Amino acid sequence: MRYKDQIDLLKLPHHIAIIMDGNGRWAKDKGKLRIFGHHKGVLSVRDVVEGACELDLKYLTLYTFSSENWNRPKLEVMAIMELMVTTIHKEIANFMKKNVRLNAIGDLHMLPKKCYNELNNAIETTAANTGLTLTLALSYSSRREIVQAAKNIASKVKSGELDINDIDEELFENNLYTGGMPDPELLIRTSGEHRISNYLLWQIAYAELYFTAKLWPDFRKEDLYEAILDYQKRERRFGMTSEQVN
Ligand code: IPE
Ligand code: IPE
Ligand code: MG
Repeated sequence: MRYKDQIDLLKLPHHIAIIMDGNGRWAKDKGKLRIFGHHKGVLSVRDVVEGACELDLKYLTLYTFSSENWNRPKLEVMAIMELMVTTIHKEIANFMKKNVRLNAIGDLHMLPKKCYNELNNAIETTAANTGLTLTLALSYSSRREIVQAAKNIASKVKSGELDINDIDEELFENNLYTGGMPDPELLIRTSGEHRISNYLLWQIAYAELYFTAKLWPDFRKEDLYEAILDYQKRERRFGMTSEQVN
């Protein structure tokens, strides 16, 4: 039986986050330039988004470019930005067809103007769509996001708009880029690395972590389904005992 047919649709995570890693190694293994791997990675994104739509998943958040990735060789960074512009432009029709709402989190003003504009255009065009919310983490740093939230809150306290006693987890959460989104129940990282790399540190407090050795350009919707099945076999206890949650 295919993985998809084994998934319990009533126990589907609301939000899946993915660290799409391994493009460079995938290309290197084939004797190609790293950017070739990034190009192939786009095919995986398309397939996984399609797979998420087929399940009626509500939120998918993809780690696309980290704040730290700006430190890569200039040529690679430029090529990734170019790839983003053409991909986002090309995918809009597909998003409309699949009822996907595009969203982005991160320090978006760091993006080259062309990329920023293309992204904003796609976000605005798809804003009324009601299916999957596809969030791209771009120029994203979780620590920076948390600091930014603290600053927002501090300035509201300073101006008197907010009382210090009003600060609680919910208020803090609403000041993150992901405000209004449920926390991811499942975090997937490809390429065999077992780290978080500054991704959604607050939001994954209780996420189930799933690591696969597959490199991102080899990842397909069936792999997503396999991860969901693995997630569904786990017991999420949230600090309680097994007896309590059953
Ligand atoms: C992930 O693949 C894509 C980005 C970080 C932009 P990598 O480019 O990190 O590939 P590896 O990890 O070097 O193989
Ligand atoms: C994390 O992957 C960022 C993205 C997938 C966009 P990296 O390849 O940049 O992370 P490290 O360097 O292995 O931690
Ligand atoms: Mg990597």
